[in-house]
Amino acid sequence: MNVIMQYNYANYSSSNYTKTGRATLNFQLINQRADFSFALFSGGLSNPKLVAVSNPISFYNPKAPLYPRLAHGKSWNEMTVTWTSGYDINEAVPFVEWGMKGDIQLRSPAGTLTFHQNSMCGSPARTVGWRDPGFIHTSFLKNLWPNSVYTYRMGHLLSNGSYIWSKIYSFKASPYPGQDSLQRVVIFGDMGKAERDGSNEYNNYQMGSLNTTDQVIKDLSNIDIVFHIGDITYANGYISQWDQFTSQVEPIASTVPYMIASGNHERDWPNTGSFYDTTDSGGECGVPAETMFYVPAENRAKFWYSTDYGMFHFCIGDTEHDWREGSEQYRFIEHCLASADRQKQPWLIFAAHRVLGYSSDYYYGLEGSFEEPMGRESLQRLWQKYKVDMAFYGHVHNYERTCPIYQNHCVNSEKSHYSGTVNGTIHVVVGGGGSHLSEFSQDQTSWSVYKDYDYGFVKLTAFNHSSLLFEYKRSSDGNVYDSFTISRDYRDVLACVHDGCEATTLGILN
Ligand SMILES: [Fe+2]
Repeated sequence: MNVIMQYNYANYSSSNYTKTGRATLNFQLINQRADFSFALFSGGLSNPKLVAVSNPISFYNPKAPLYPRLAHGKSWNEMTVTWTSGYDINEAVPFVEWGMKGDIQLRSPAGTLTFHQNSMCGSPARTVGWRDPGFIHTSFLKNLWPNSVYTYRMGHLLSNGSYIWSKIYSFKASPYPGQDSLQRVVIFGDMGKAERDGSNEYNNYQMGSLNTTDQVIKDLSNIDIVFHIGDITYANGYISQWDQFTSQVEPIASTVPYMIASGNHERDWPNTGSFYDTTDSGGECGVPAETMFYVPAENRAKFWYSTDYGMFHFCIGDTEHDWREGSEQYRFIEHCLASADRQKQPWLIFAAHRVLGYSSDYYYGLEGSFEEPMGRESLQRLWQKYKVDMAFYGHVHNYERTCPIYQNHCVNSEKSHYSGTVNGTIHVVVGGGGSHLSEFSQDQTSWSVYKDYDYGFVKLTAFNHSSLLFEYKRSSDGNVYDSFTISRDYRDVLACVHDGCEATTLGILN
């Protein structure tokens, strides 16, 4: 198989290479179910000529179960474990061995998926970018006890009766919906991947991705769940990069639920049902994303879903499919928002990849509406009716936070502390996960409270049902650059504002 996965220049770490002909390069290899060779080329990228190829080197077990990623199942007390291996179901039976830490470990079966070159919609995914993704297994760990710590490892039972095991990992089960405990959520979009060894690859433009990954790992003992809201790997049709991405986020995704949304770089391809007719997915048309990561959607090819984390209720949209009034997705979003019992789940969050709300992005500014075309026209009605606290977006690679907005206007001049009646939604662009930064418009928008042209992510901390802390941290140093708090009680959510008011009638006195 002649696939160049990563490369570097011989003078990268030995500047006098051209004089001495001597250089040392370090490459980090990850297990991708095949042997590796190193090749030396002359002539640079423009006119490469193969000079020499090394002997192949092999991993101890090329088929080993690797890169576990957790995600919520469809119910609050179910965690899914998805991983990659080289074992077809005819060769070995995949399962997860798991249980409460220090207690009896049970076994749960896993389902196995893969996809083929003819599952891809176009080039490069269907041509030069194709690489066999191996087998993707998902096991469903059910009836979890709230907040309990579990250990798990992936296994494959071979036909000769012997077992192949992964390392042992652990996670904390999610709280019962509405349950009070310290609850911490991290949200970002557009992270992508980069090479730890400084080498180059296709689609090599996610300069901030390792910093974001590392800051989240550093704070991981203080994080309960992560949302990566679209533009996941930027593999863009070079399928081998999905292994690279799942390897990069393994410390995070093997420990806390790693919930993804779909973006243009996962889904878009002309004439394949994506809402946008662009070639941004490099021919993947959503198939790798929908297979490599589990999401609790009814149909994984339509990437909208709801999920709970204790006092939070999340409604995740899919901007690469129609969201306008009358669409299947619109009905889902309304149902999701309506199903939050705000006494138990006061923190109601909407998130999707493209900016359906508000952004001062340069290109959105050129269009004059500061949003994705048709973005908020339908959904604003729902955010207002159901009193959504915050709406998060990626796609635009920077950070921006708005005032609480109702009908395109700020309804609160406060910037750092919000209290009382819920009368507007705060819109947050947090697409600076790692991909090349996006310029802001020169126009000053009336609703913009804080802008940052840098890489970063958001952390939400719910202390209880009445108190929430919002922090924006830069990936370069992990420090907080923007923050605010919300304090309020249940009656403040119920209180009548604008059209978010329930109908009332006068009773008869008796
Ligand atoms: Fe995007």
